[in-house]
Amino acid sequence: MIDEAIVRFAVTPSPMNHAMFEHYHGAAARVGVTDTAVPHREAGCDLLLPSVWLDPADTHANVAWTREAYDAFSPHFADARRLNYLRDDEQNDAVRSACGPNYDRLVEVKRRRLGQRLPLEPERRVAPDRPGSDPSRLTPTHNGVSAREFLIEHLGSAIVIVSKVSRAAILRAAESDRLQRVVQGHGMRLGAARFVAGETLDECVAVMRRLNEAGLYANTTLLGEAILDPAGSSAVTDEYARILDRLVAEELRANVALKLTHLGLSFDEGAAYTNVERLVAHAADLRTFIRIDMEQSEYLDATLRIYERLRAAGHDNVGTVLQTYLYRTPDDLERLLPLRPNLRIVKGAYLEPAEIAYPEKENVDRAYLEIVERGLRGGAYIAVATHDEAIIRHVQAFAERENVGRDRFEFQMLYGVRPGLQRSIAAESYKVLVATPFGPDWYPYLMRRLAERPANVGFFLRNLVRR
Ligand code: FDA
Repeated sequence: MIDEAIVRFAVTPSPMNHAMFEHYHGAAARVGVTDTAVPHREAGCDLLLPSVWLDPADTHANVAWTREAYDAFSPHFADARRLNYLRDDEQNDAVRSACGPNYDRLVEVKRRRLGQRLPLEPERRVAPDRPGSDPSRLTPTHNGVSAREFLIEHLGSAIVIVSKVSRAAILRAAESDRLQRVVQGHGMRLGAARFVAGETLDECVAVMRRLNEAGLYANTTLLGEAILDPAGSSAVTDEYARILDRLVAEELRANVALKLTHLGLSFDEGAAYTNVERLVAHAADLRTFIRIDMEQSEYLDATLRIYERLRAAGHDNVGTVLQTYLYRTPDDLERLLPLRPNLRIVKGAYLEPAEIAYPEKENVDRAYLEIVERGLRGGAYIAVATHDEAIIRHVQAFAERENVGRDRFEFQMLYGVRPGLQRSIAAESYKVLVATPFGPDWYPYLMRRLAERPANVGFFLRNLVRR
């Protein structure tokens, strides 16, 4: 089978196609075949052949490939099916085979207890054409089946696959317009609300108030990026001015973090500067603070230039961000340190090539600690923005050891990510700020959160099928 798998997967039409050989062993294999509803305890191994692709144009090639691969593997199969892997439409013989020697007993139990005839009805067996659902909005299709139905059918395997899909694969897939339409159409109800504090400022204010009541600080961001025209970036700037007014009027312990591409950086650095300068001055009048997020590396130089220009113009209520996945960051830090900057340190959320960014996580983590330590020693105020508890504990110990006061740094995390950790660190009397974004354009933000932890995609998919 391994030889066959090597041959088949050398030419798979989708990089997400997958073979799972599940080895039955340990305690589960020692349970007698008739002791539970799930038989085949002695099977040794099962095979699942999930095929996943994003573009409907690839459907034919993938279905054909999967069928051929299945046929090629089938001489090695025992005459048994695994209960979890039945399709919705499979009944009778297939169900009997999957239930093995337990079939008659299960029928009897089910008849007695529930008055139903089917021996088992796995949860995922949901009628595809329920009234009110709109499967046509969910492309791609698999053999004429909507994505939702496809996922229902393959849920178990889909979740396993996505938890193995790399961060890069998710970020690349996120660029698909089609995927964006699907996710944007359903996402808020299905799971985006875990990471996004609503589509309106009113909703976000309510979330930030709850965070403040729990002893946490907050910042907010109007989601959206890469505005391409002056009118659009001016409108965003006006909106941010209103947000600042509202935060102050509501007496929230909250400030603003924004992206310069939202203020015009992708078409005119001068326009972005004018817009952000206006907001930083307005924030100073209101005695509050603005953080300039860091985006893809193509905007890094301009972002640092704008930050330095703001500081040179006398604005102190502004900070920016450095990403430790970039090789150049130690140099950028040295360049900024004379300004005694307020810097948020992050690992970095974008897809950057190995020529400029560490591909391995351990190097990014090591650089993170070096940057934070150097920043604190060099007189910067540091916002340690990570959910990595080992790093958080390391920074706390470093600060104790080096007598760095708690007014020189804070911890920052994202809304919806490790809320228990946020609260426990705040309870230890450290300042903890929760980044709490809102707005209708939440798609790229959500995709970066999913990419950071591919298991989040499983959470999203589960909600998709539970709808
Ligand atoms: P890491 O990815 O190693 O995760 C450590 C642990 O945290 C994981 O094991 C998991 O338990 C948990 N975790 C992390 N991310 C999760 C998620 N999305 N869902 C569930 N659990 C998760 N990036 C950037 O390029 N520019 C920027 O301006 C910002 N701004 C920013 C602000 C704030 C307040 C934060 C917290 C982060 C950013 N980032 C960012 C994102 C940052 O670059 C990085 O992608 C994420 O913080 C994830 O990396 P961690 O440091 O948490 O570590």
